[in-house]
Amino acid sequence: MKFKEPKGIEKGEAEARLREENERLKAFLAHVGGALAVLGPDCHVIWTSEESLRYFGLKENAIGRRCYDVIPTTEELCKVCVARRAFATGQVQTRVAEHRTAAGELRYYHGIGTPIRNRSGRVTQVMVLAQDVTELCRVQQELQKKTEMLEIQNRRVLEAAKEKSRFFAGMSHELRTPMTAIIGFTEMLLEDADEPLAPNQRSLLLKVSENAERLVGMINEILDLSKIEAGKMRVDLSRVDLDRLISHVIETMMPLVKGKDLTLSWQAAEDLSIIRTDEQKLRQILVNLVSNAIKFTPKGSVTVRAALRSSRISIAVSDTGIGIRRSDLGKIFQEFSQVGGRGAGGTGLGLAITQRLVNILGGEIRVSSKLGEGSTFTVTLPAAQE
Ligand SMILES: Nc1ncnc2c1ncn2[C@@H]1O[C@H](COP(=O)(O)OP(=O)(O)OP(=O)(O)O)[C@@H](O)[C@H]1O
Ligand SMILES: [Mg+2]
Repeated sequence: MKFKEPKGIEKGEAEARLREENERLKAFLAHVGGALAVLGPDCHVIWTSEESLRYFGLKENAIGRRCYDVIPTTEELCKVCVARRAFATGQVQTRVAEHRTAAGELRYYHGIGTPIRNRSGRVTQVMVLAQDVTELCRVQQELQKKTEMLEIQNRRVLEAAKEKSRFFAGMSHELRTPMTAIIGFTEMLLEDADEPLAPNQRSLLLKVSENAERLVGMINEILDLSKIEAGKMRVDLSRVDLDRLISHVIETMMPLVKGKDLTLSWQAAEDLSIIRTDEQKLRQILVNLVSNAIKFTPKGSVTVRAALRSSRISIAVSDTGIGIRRSDLGKIFQEFSQVGGRGAGGTGLGLAITQRLVNILGGEIRVSSKLGEGSTFTVTLPAAQE
């Protein structure tokens, strides 16, 4: 018995499957958006999706025609077209290219050329998917323009800051030389045993000397700040006996406490020992903080405490002084910023320098304060123990 081949059913099924595939493809294209075409080796159009022509703003039927006759392009663009390159290399090719639409508008398309091979493995067709990425490109261009502008501005700001530092460094240096001469000559006059001075002359000269010293101090601060800002401050690590260093700083600060109802003390935690840091910079940090504490504390106490925790040291300078208003706490580390009322003297550079020095040593400085009750400045530094 012979069975009849169910050709009709197979054909119907195949057509149904084809329709299904077609619908899937349509849904896919609607989802990704863009123009889809299949090109032959000489760039003639074998197939296009319905959307394709509309996508490029064209009305004619493209099938059978050369791609470059249908879509406005140039010889240069044709050479780097993803379809040509996919044919030439046998690999998937991608590229963003400019195209002018039929209406003359310049738009950007992201193209993917995927080789299609026949049974023997030869590339006979290329499927091209082109998507309009004009908006994305514009945003990107806009972003790039802004980034370039920011870079230019940034360079200008850095250059201006460097120029400022150079100016300050030069000016401070020029000022220091005559000031040193004034101090030297005043001292000579004060010490000249052959021609003793009258008491009022002596007290006036002492004032000259005192003020000149203060000026030199300010000039040195400006010079330090300029050096730090110009990145010329070198870190010089050595073994530092913290207990000895702080004791020495306290000793040199003692004369500032004289005549005030103030105790200046230093409390070391037991585990304090030799640490590795830049001694000169740490000394300057401590001198700045302790001299501030004394300056802004009419009576009571100034206490320095230090403790070593794993590889960090924490040094706190506390006082029972005038304190700092909460709203001023953000300002005190700025250059030339003085918030504690008039008459205290100084330039307002001490804390700006201190903060930069702490940063150079890889540490941080924090402050807590209550107006009328006192302040605590805490410096935390990395300090690999010896
Ligand atoms: N321990 C403190 N108690 C109260 N106020 C303080 C204390 N330390 C700093 N300040 C406030 O912060 C300001 C800035 O301090 P900074 O050390 O930078 O400058 P300065 O001491 O006024 O001058 P300079 O240090 O340049 O001689 C001070 O003018 C003061 O208003
Ligand atoms: Mg100060």
